[in-house]
Amino acid sequence: MSKRVLLTGSTGLIGRHVARALHGKHQLILASHAGHPIPEGRTLPFDLREAGKITTWLDSLTPDVVVHTAAVTSADAAVQSPEEAELLNVTATRTIAEWCAMRGARMIHFSTDFVFDGTKSGWTEFEKPVPLSWYGETKLKSEVMVREALENHVILRPILVYGRADALSRLNFPLLVLDKLRAGETMRITADQFRMPTYAGDVAVAVDQLLEHSFSGVMHLAGPDYVSVYSFAERVAASFGLNRELLHPVSTHEMQFLAERPLISGFDTSLAQSEIGWSPTGIDQGLSQMKEDMVL
Ligand SMILES: NC(=O)c1ccc[n+]([C@@H]2O[C@H](COP(=O)([O-])OP(=O)(O)OC[C@H]3O[C@@H](n4cnc5c(N)ncnc54)[C@H](OP(=O)(O)O)[C@@H]3O)[C@@H](O)[C@H]2O)c1
Repeated sequence: MSKRVLLTGSTGLIGRHVARALHGKHQLILASHAGHPIPEGRTLPFDLREAGKITTWLDSLTPDVVVHTAAVTSADAAVQSPEEAELLNVTATRTIAEWCAMRGARMIHFSTDFVFDGTKSGWTEFEKPVPLSWYGETKLKSEVMVREALENHVILRPILVYGRADALSRLNFPLLVLDKLRAGETMRITADQFRMPTYAGDVAVAVDQLLEHSFSGVMHLAGPDYVSVYSFAERVAASFGLNRELLHPVSTHEMQFLAERPLISGFDTSLAQSEIGWSPTGIDQGLSQMKEDMVL
């Protein structure tokens, strides 16, 4: 059944893919910070840091479901602007969750694998998160807010999401690699961080399924391949026929990131498979899909 769906962060990587998947099926209300239009329609500009205005804004939109992707999404940006990360990731999320609880709306909220400490792979939804960074901490706090405010919620935790859409707010990892290699520049990439890269189109499929599903709780989303970030970059170079000699493996220590990152990050996704039949795309297929999206 068609629903009124408010999508925050609709100009972002996941937002763009969710908008594409839901367009024509549901009554989409697209929101962003700056208000840039996307192919699925114009986006309503709204600054979610203005917590005091969120309830009135939601009252004017009356969604049945809020898909909340907007956030301070970079761990380093959260270090640089800690108050902004708290306002957007925690306070705004809590206010949206409380509104959903009051109005009987469903909430699909985005958290992250950075709530875990990188000491192992294969995390399930039932294990205790211990974030290493302020970004991870704000996201974990947001999870608590959502869980405490309303029963009718889903908290999705994806890992290293990648994909392609026009005019994205920021580059994601394969796009960064492509930019550098096409410009003939070298790139230093961590070889000691391991991830399960997740194709953004698969995340959108999960959201689509969960809109009408009764599932409530945390759900892990991750692609099937567990690789080092460096070898992911090598796969990007190979897939796009670019010079992999420009890629230089380095350690996390050498990169001197502002925020600490989990070294190892991998999920058990059997819950998503059993609840919604989620079957994620492998890296090579995801990269091929990105190529197709580039010529759209
Ligand atoms: N991408 C990943 O690898 C990944 C991994 C794990 C979890 N996640 C989570 O998934 C969600 C979506 O991530 P993403 O990568 O798709 O995000 P993204 O590409 O960085 O896009 C962020 C979105 O948030 C909006 N936004 C930023 N500040 C805002 C503000 N003050 N008020 C209202 N909107 C604001 C931006 O709007 P403008 O374009 O107008 O600035 C943009 O639409 C986030 O919660 C993130 O933490 C992402």
